[in-house]
Amino acid sequence: MDASVGWGIVGYGWVARDYMAPGIRAAGHHLVAVADPGETSRAAAEAEGARAHADLAGLIAEPAVEAVYVATPNHLHRGAVEALCAAGKAVLCEKPMAAALADAEAMAAAVRKTGAFYGTAFDQRHHPGHRAMRDLIRAGRLGTVTAVRIVYACWLDRAWTSFRGQDNWRIDPAQAGGGALIDLAPHGLDLVDFLLGEPIAEIAAMTQARAQDYAVDDGALLIGRTGSGALAQLNVAYNCPDALPRRRLEVVGTKGMLSATDTMGQTAGGSVTFTSGADGRTEDVAFDTTASPFLEQVRAFGRALRDPAARVAWDAERDLHTMRLIARAYAAAGKPAGRDAA
Ligand SMILES: NC(=O)c1ccc[n+]([C@@H]2O[C@H](COP(=O)([O-])OP(=O)(O)OC[C@H]3O[C@@H](n4cnc5c(N)ncnc54)[C@H](O)[C@@H]3O)[C@@H](O)[C@H]2O)c1
Repeated sequence: MDASVGWGIVGYGWVARDYMAPGIRAAGHHLVAVADPGETSRAAAEAEGARAHADLAGLIAEPAVEAVYVATPNHLHRGAVEALCAAGKAVLCEKPMAAALADAEAMAAAVRKTGAFYGTAFDQRHHPGHRAMRDLIRAGRLGTVTAVRIVYACWLDRAWTSFRGQDNWRIDPAQAGGGALIDLAPHGLDLVDFLLGEPIAEIAAMTQARAQDYAVDDGALLIGRTGSGALAQLNVAYNCPDALPRRRLEVVGTKGMLSATDTMGQTAGGSVTFTSGADGRTEDVAFDTTASPFLEQVRAFGRALRDPAARVAWDAERDLHTMRLIARAYAAAGKPAGRDAA
């Protein structure tokens, strides 16, 4: 069977256009068609060589579309994923899985019922730097891992839009499901699971609405603990100027520490160092700094589409657990998690 996968995209906005479409191209796959009600988005897809449909049915009817990347605003993930699973397409759905936990539960149920190949697009699992970190942790270089410390922040004000002329759905609780916490923390929660090989089991959080003038949280601190006792702390924010250091991931153990700078995000590169717990010496950790996490994610999803044995990187039940952590974090913070609070 042809290794090149025929892709469809539902929601051809910022992340689809700037990161996923280039990833599909670089992997040697092809973008067959998109579905998007927005004229500007459809024009951008046509410029990329894809057929553009105003509705999902048109995309589903395309036999050459094998795998579909869902990148609509969060509250629309559920409807698209349920329809695509029922139609027998493989689905790679953006994070967070949904705007509301109940929607994520329904999506996982649809995956169970149809047996569809479903994955949430946690692209940072596929960042070569993060893979190198996981390999060193597995090899025991850190000894017993005691803590993961994450800073993942940006500046997102009321006027921010990823695509000119479109609304800022991220600050609408009904469409986004929350603010910085639901948008940014899923990456870190999933990375803890990926790096340590076990999910966070317990979680607490505080949110803030500190520097922006909108209805969702503009910052959050989350603390968690895995089943075996590793601690995790995440500071996520929409209120951090982009010019400041704001993408940092550290894993600390009894024998050493891994520090990653500017690896969390959509682009290739960043740096990873290992510091020895014996003498404090720091060395660079080598990884492929040319491959973006989106390219690697497309490659891995394509391999798994052709070979079901390679599907371990995707698991709707695991992603549902991450959504439950998000809901519990909002509950612990005492703040409404968008639609769940309605
Ligand atoms: N993994 C990452 O690093 C990353 C980065 C950015 C965004 N995301 C996620 O990707 C998703 C999209 O974010 P974005 O920033 O690209 O948003 P965006 O606003 O730039 O794009 C959304 C697109 O969806 C389209 N759309 C709206 N309603 C639709 C419908 N019913 N059917 C099909 N398309 C519809 C819009 O016209 C627009 O083109 C969100 O879930 C977001 O959380 C992930």
